[in-house]
Amino acid sequence: MSTSTAPWWRDAVIYQVYVRSFADGNGDGVGDIAGIRSRLPYLKSLGVDAIWINPWYESPMADHGYDVADFRQIDPLFGTVAEAEQLIEEAHRHGIRVIPDIVPNHTSDRHAWFQTALAAGPGSPERERYVFRTGRGTDGAEPPNDWVSCFGGPAWTRLPDGEWYLHLFAPEQPDLNWRHPDVRAEFESILRFWFSRGVDGFRIDVAHGLIKHPELPDLPPRPEAAPDGPRQHLDHPHWDRDEVHDVYRAWRRVADEFPGDRSFVAEAWADTPERLAAYVRRDGLHTAFNFDFLMSSWDAKDLRAVIDDSLAMLGAVGAPATWVLSNHDVMRHPSRYGRRVVRRWVANEPYRPEGAVDLALGTRRARAAALLMLALPGGAYIYQGEELGLPEVEDLPESVLQDPVWERSGHTDRGRDGCRVPIPWSGRSAPYGFSPDGTTAEPWLPQPADWAEHSVAAHDGVEGSMLELYRAALRLRRGLPALGDGGLAWLDTPAGVLAFRREPEFVCVVNLSAEPYRLPGHASVLLASGPLDDGVLAPDRAAWLAT
Ligand code: BGC
Repeated sequence: MSTSTAPWWRDAVIYQVYVRSFADGNGDGVGDIAGIRSRLPYLKSLGVDAIWINPWYESPMADHGYDVADFRQIDPLFGTVAEAEQLIEEAHRHGIRVIPDIVPNHTSDRHAWFQTALAAGPGSPERERYVFRTGRGTDGAEPPNDWVSCFGGPAWTRLPDGEWYLHLFAPEQPDLNWRHPDVRAEFESILRFWFSRGVDGFRIDVAHGLIKHPELPDLPPRPEAAPDGPRQHLDHPHWDRDEVHDVYRAWRRVADEFPGDRSFVAEAWADTPERLAAYVRRDGLHTAFNFDFLMSSWDAKDLRAVIDDSLAMLGAVGAPATWVLSNHDVMRHPSRYGRRVVRRWVANEPYRPEGAVDLALGTRRARAAALLMLALPGGAYIYQGEELGLPEVEDLPESVLQDPVWERSGHTDRGRDGCRVPIPWSGRSAPYGFSPDGTTAEPWLPQPADWAEHSVAAHDGVEGSMLELYRAALRLRRGLPALGDGGLAWLDTPAGVLAFRREPEFVCVVNLSAEPYRLPGHASVLLASGPLDDGVLAPDRAAWLAT
């Protein structure tokens, strides 16, 4: 970490816990808070600074917790508020901060507010907390506009009383009306509820979606795709509207009421790095996920452009960058990188990889990518299992798929279950220590028969394993003043090789070319993603050097 007394979130390494798939403490086949508590020593030994926990609130689980029925309760599947408090306290004792997810764009259709709105009927003040409208066409039988749900199909559902309500995600996730004072006051109160229970911040779900155009106009025509042209911000009726920043200025004031550098990270998808930077101004949120890095192809030019643009735009507003390779919504990166052609990902479109996966290749690149990510200035996110090199499970039988995307897309998009398969901890067969010994309940998604090799036990203490690579990188990162917050300077390299210096005395080299690359002069090799051949870095390898 940098030597300054800068707040922790400027260069934190944050581990994402997808609670239902991390560790099952009570033997029902679903991960829970008891499971997380039992694995805190593991997280400590990994060396992360904080955990981000996907939604743990009371929920009918139409979208695995992103449909919240009560923000002040923990879902019984995961535990209780008292257990959440214990977890926060124990994590703090291990030196690990805790950041739950908050889901302000929508609630569950079972939330008391939505239920009351349904009962109160058309035109009632209760309906004003959501986005209810009459339809178009004869008898209002057509949706009020042409917006589409991110999960497929129209973004509107009609009620028996004739009105339509908006849901940018599943019908079980009605969108809130953030122009309504009740909504603003309620969320500030929810933030205080959890801040006063000790959480260190929040990950804000769909942070760019809260404010809709007041007239709810149809979508603008999509511009011609220009993959290599300059990226442009398009005035969109429900994404990334300027007024959303008022909400976060108020949230920042709430966070600042509490001691100890509480912080927010936005899940905000913006057209350009400038638009993303607008979320993290000094009176706004603290950090935002940098999805451009995750969406980049495995290509030196593309990655360098993303790194430069991100650092320039965020630096201009005094915010640190964050770097992320995988999360619970995207194909795991060894499987993305294991394709002969690694395509650039286009936001809001399903990622359809081409060709068969070569996992040896994908894993080699994932190891190199980890060293790149952890050497860049700013903070980084590790998605549970990435430190074990878990691949995407691409062959889950259709009968077990649970992500609403599968149904809503008319079975054309398999959705996100493949990156959410429960973590293998130990043993030779499922549940690989995910559930306590003797558990008869099956894990909520089946784990592949060959996952023993990916278990924590199979990696633990094994030289050269993915887990030991992450541990070593995080240990070095903590100790080296050059890493964490700060800047970088690129070194001259042939096409396909990325090399940058960070002061003092540190160089990171990543070889994305097809040719071996002789490392620049150095005092010692601190860490390498694979064996070095007499100072030569093979393709798809990375090294950290002391100079
Ligand atoms: C979350 C998804 C979720 C969606 C709706 C996101 O972007 O990361 O997992 O389905 O928001 O809440």
